[in-house]
Amino acid sequence: MTKVRAAITAVHAWVPPDLLTNHDLTKLVDTNEEWIETRTGIKERHILKGEGLGSSDMAVQAILPLLKKRGIGADEIELIICATTTPDMQFPATANIIADKIGAVNAWGYDVNAACSGFIFALTTATKFIETGTHKKVLVVGVDKMSSIIDYTDRATCVIFGDGGGAVLLEPNEEGNGIMDSILRVDGSGRAFLHQKAGGSVKPATLETVAAKEHFVYQEGQTVFKFAVTKMADVSAEIMEKNNLTGSDISWLIPHQANKRIIDATARRMGLPDEKVTLNIERYGNTTNGTIPLCLWEWEKKFKKGDNIIIAAFGGGFTWGAIWVKWAY
Ligand code: UT7
Repeated sequence: MTKVRAAITAVHAWVPPDLLTNHDLTKLVDTNEEWIETRTGIKERHILKGEGLGSSDMAVQAILPLLKKRGIGADEIELIICATTTPDMQFPATANIIADKIGAVNAWGYDVNAACSGFIFALTTATKFIETGTHKKVLVVGVDKMSSIIDYTDRATCVIFGDGGGAVLLEPNEEGNGIMDSILRVDGSGRAFLHQKAGGSVKPATLETVAAKEHFVYQEGQTVFKFAVTKMADVSAEIMEKNNLTGSDISWLIPHQANKRIIDATARRMGLPDEKVTLNIERYGNTTNGTIPLCLWEWEKKFKKGDNIIIAAFGGGFTWGAIWVKWAY
């Protein structure tokens, strides 16, 4: 009997229309356009503006066209897994809010919190619901309104992040295509170098935590960079070795877009030329959980059925991993 795999059968993403360019940032902090572009690869990022709008609103903008593209109703969705570091609120889960906003009246859902690796953690989790046969239509969302937790007076972080996100639909596939394998890792000792200091149960919000700017992203960039370069490249090489894949078998690398230099190092380690690597960091910056669905959406038309794709990510926590996908359409 053919193994049932979980295949991506539709993808869509969305970024808000307002732009924050490198030039704009030079008016906010002591930086310059050349530094940002050469050290990160970023030229501009999109920012969600508007009172009362959050991550779920961007997710809805991505999901409604996705459902239309696939020709299905929201009532057919059975499960929504939302990867986000900037949920609409501490609780309920953003997945619940998305279900309500799109009219997924028959779905259940929950959020996954794994910082920049959240989308691949959620995708791997969602795969199990399809492979076991209990679910036939699962939405995996990756979305972040990073501007809600960024200090625009901190040049070490404000130049990197942007807002946006997207979603994929997972359905059963019996043709041998879909999510083939994944390797996921965490190292909680890495929390010291990239975290949000207050707002959780250890340090709830007070006037003092707000005054001390402890609700913003804290990052020791150089340390995170060193781990990211090593771990993302290691895990990508590991999943290839484990599955007897060489660089020539791989059609595409879809890397988390945190820094162009990290992406280049990963591609080199995998033996891939630049043409096989999806790169849109120059236009969106690091949208955390949004980067991978944004790449899938922008490159969707170039993918061919049966293409071997490696998706790789590294994020705060630390979290990292890689997924091998055989594209299904
Ligand atoms: O999303 C997943 C997790 N996050 C990441 O993967 C991010 C990983 N880290 C990075 O991408 C990089 O570390 C950054 C882009 C954050 C920083 O780049 P860097 O090359 O590691 O810079 P640095 O922190 O080592 O700083 C180098 C210099 C310093 O000046 P001095 O001491 O050499 O005079 C900084 O003060 O650049 C200075 N600098 C800046 N200059 C202009 C730091 N930030 C800026 C800035 N504009 N925005």
